[in-house]
Amino acid sequence: MKVLIVFAHPEPHSLSAALRDVAIRELETAGHEVRVSDLYAMNWKAQVDRADFPALTEDRLMPAAASKHAFATGTLTDDVKAEIDKLLWADLLILHFPLWWYAMPAILKGWVDRVYAYGFAYGVGEHSDTRWGDRFGEGTLAGKRAMLIVTAGGWEEHYSPRGVNGPIDDLLFPITHNILYYPGFDVLPSFVTYSTDRFDDARFEAAAEALRQRMRDVETTAPIPYRKQNGGDYVIPTMQLKPGLEAPGTSGFALHRRG
Ligand SMILES: Cc1cc2nc3c(=O)[nH]c(=O)nc-3n(C[C@H](O)[C@H](O)[C@H](O)COP(=O)(O)O)c2cc1C
Repeated sequence: MKVLIVFAHPEPHSLSAALRDVAIRELETAGHEVRVSDLYAMNWKAQVDRADFPALTEDRLMPAAASKHAFATGTLTDDVKAEIDKLLWADLLILHFPLWWYAMPAILKGWVDRVYAYGFAYGVGEHSDTRWGDRFGEGTLAGKRAMLIVTAGGWEEHYSPRGVNGPIDDLLFPITHNILYYPGFDVLPSFVTYSTDRFDDARFEAAAEALRQRMRDVETTAPIPYRKQNGGDYVIPTMQLKPGLEAPGTSGFALHRRG
């Protein structure tokens, strides 16, 4: 497999960087080809602004319209084009980051904002009253796999279904479902390491071994069973889940999984 790791941590000696190297070694040992976009090392520009659209002539910057035009005319900036090429190259995308304020670091969000161009990651397929585009299970990146590797300072229990932080799968849903599944990726369960600020050698080795196992299984791990938008489960055009499809008592983000 061709694997792209998009890595967001400023410190080469961080736990995140050590786990990234564990993942790379295991993937390469298994014969996979690995490329890394190390966003801090690349000095990745995180903010969307006018400089992203050198061909723009209008006075008013409308980011989505500008993105659509730039993608269609091949006038996106070279740094964004290079990341799009890497996404097209990869069979597996890994977003690797520390949990910062229950979300990804801003530099990684800025990678998504800029690389996910209109016509590439969204605005794909027919948009009408009978079809709401190719998204959530369909789209440019369909047929590829993706997953998250996340380090979190908090305890695992704090992220359990009744934990005060909210369940980890809910917190990550805006990324796994709305950023990765949206343009078509099959999304594997996230690999999350907890209590990271209390790590010693034994805990690191346990986390590293669990990560090695996940890397050995990347080709066979079953994706999260999200519902396909265009698979008949949703009412078009309101895009609401049809009544009665969920198990009794299911609510919230879990509605969008087939079990
Ligand atoms: C700005 C910032 C925000 C953080 N927010 C969270 C958080 O929301 N939840 C959490 O569990 N840990 C949080 N942490 C702790 C980090 O997740 C933890 O320090 C990191 O996973 C350790 O791995 P590293 O050595 O790779 O940085 C935060 C840390 C920083 C610096």
